Amino acid sequence: MDNSPNIPAAMVTGGSRGIGRAICLELARLGHAVAVNYAASAAAADEVVSHIVAAGGRAVALQADVAQAGDRAALVGRTVAEFGRLDVLVNNAGIGSPGRLDLLEATEANWDRVLTTNLKAPFFLTQLAARQMLAQPRSGGFGRGKIINISSISAYTASIDRGDYCIAKSAMRMLTWLWAERLAGDGIQVFEICPGVIATDLTAPVAAKYDRLLADGLAPLARWGQPADVARAVGAIVSDCFPYSTGEQINVDGGFHIRRL
Ligand SMILES: NC(=O)c1ccc[n+]([C@@H]2O[C@H](COP(=O)([O-])OP(=O)(O)OC[C@H]3O[C@@H](n4cnc5c(N)ncnc54)[C@H](OP(=O)(O)O)[C@@H]3O)[C@@H](O)[C@H]2O)c1
Repeated sequence: MDNSPNIPAAMVTGGSRGIGRAICLELARLGHAVAVNYAASAAAADEVVSHIVAAGGRAVALQADVAQAGDRAALVGRTVAEFGRLDVLVNNAGIGSPGRLDLLEATEANWDRVLTTNLKAPFFLTQLAARQMLAQPRSGGFGRGKIINISSISAYTASIDRGDYCIAKSAMRMLTWLWAERLAGDGIQVFEICPGVIATDLTAPVAAKYDRLLADGLAPLARWGQPADVARAVGAIVSDCFPYSTGEQINVDGGFHIRRL
């Protein structure tokens, strides 16, 4: 297989569905070879790959549970084996809080699952990706690399039925700042995107609640966000629209973050 580094290579965790799927399509549209990671949805990941290949792009579906250290190492290794390099990591894979339990009912098992998938995994995937970016030759004029963390409005919004999720997303801000500081001197930028209410499988079970909240003015832009809205922000980052920024947080939330009176 030709794995010569003639195009930049991106890896998107949880690229099979929802926001990750849209990010994969956007990165491919912008000329990246894309590793479409998934945990269980092989058919959905294959569909994303087919879509990209049909449009003339390059992509591969890679199964890995990002909560497992061995899977994380294998995922980065297989991406590099496939494409010859790694230029963009998007830490997108995430799970909601199982059962959305009240704080008084929250369990340690759920805490471990959510914190491992939504926080530990992006931290150590960033470490693996950064090591690869620093080891590979600067070629093709792709810059040194970009790491993009998909956080949430839950980073600063208290929801008492998913404390584990909120804490993981809140800590993702420090994760972003730490890696931005560590890698700035090496020419690798790190960003955090905070989506608001986005229409995906994650929010489908609570769609009626959000329909109501949006109609009642939850956000200034009174509509559901779409996965493509988030993907366009990722596209702007990889297109070098923010050359003098790092550790930056980009809200894609219809203005939800604005305090209003
Ligand atoms: N939807 C929203 O309103 C919203 C708002 C703010 C932030 N976010 C964040 O955006 C990200 C994507 O959310 P989404 O709404 O697109 O979710 P989604 O539709 O439920 O898709 C989740 C994706 O993550 C993958 N995934 C889950 N656990 C994984 C694991 N252990 N290893 C590898 N992949 C795993 C899934 O793979 P499989 O298909 O194989 O299951 C799937 O591709 C998450 O980090 C979420 O917290 C979402």
